[in-house]
Amino acid sequence: MSCDKSEKKITETFNNISSYYDKMNNIMSFGTHYFVKYFALKSLKLKNGDMILDLCCGSGDFTKIFSKLCPKVKVIGFDNSVEMLKLAKVKNPKGVFLKGDCLDLPFNENEFDIVTMGFGLRNIQERKKALSQIYKVLKTGGQFLHLDFGKHNIFNKIFDLYVKFLAMFFVKNPESYLYLIESKNEYPEPDELIKEFEDNGFKLLKRKDFMFGIISVQIYTK
Ligand SMILES: C[S@@+](CC[C@H](N)C(=O)[O-])C[C@H]1O[C@@H](n2cnc3c(N)ncnc32)[C@H](O)[C@@H]1O
Repeated sequence: MSCDKSEKKITETFNNISSYYDKMNNIMSFGTHYFVKYFALKSLKLKNGDMILDLCCGSGDFTKIFSKLCPKVKVIGFDNSVEMLKLAKVKNPKGVFLKGDCLDLPFNENEFDIVTMGFGLRNIQERKKALSQIYKVLKTGGQFLHLDFGKHNIFNKIFDLYVKFLAMFFVKNPESYLYLIESKNEYPEPDELIKEFEDNGFKLLKRKDFMFGIISVQIYTK
């Protein structure tokens, strides 16, 4: 059976885990997730004044990294969890954050030089619709960075066991972390995903795998 990814369920899940979201990311990744995000974003070509839309921004790590990589870019963080957005604002007091649904982006066509989405698309049931929204708001020749779990290999299985252990013994809402495992394992592997993105008009520019392939980053253009 596939995961429940209704908007209500997903928003509730992230609102519920927000108080320990960053802490769990650090524990689950042995402190490496921030570096993976940093090196992924460093692969983008950034220039002063770029307009960047960070979809599913969560607690605002990408905004913080962009401010270090190129302080003169303009980033809008976008997410539908109020609690996650509160964390993002604390982490980036000068950051711009908006609440909304990636399936209905309130922006114009060709508005952004760069669109990013980290660990977000996996939580959206209507993936094709989300991709068409991203395609719409991205400028022709712009860059779309997608980062999420990747290959379903042996390292991924070891990671599952570790997360199950943490979920069972250390977190208040274990079902949210069991959801993470399920959603990760039913998400297409990078080769299949790249094909899907290309079928929706994107052209692959670059691909990078991290953590023995269990994290995958792709940069596309339109
Ligand atoms: C796993 S977190 C990733 C947060 C951040 N990008 C990171 O890498 O740490 C996924 C985020 O996606 C948001 N989200 C899920 N579905 C969404 C949707 N349809 N529209 C907007 N945000 C969504 C959730 O609220 C959550 O904050």
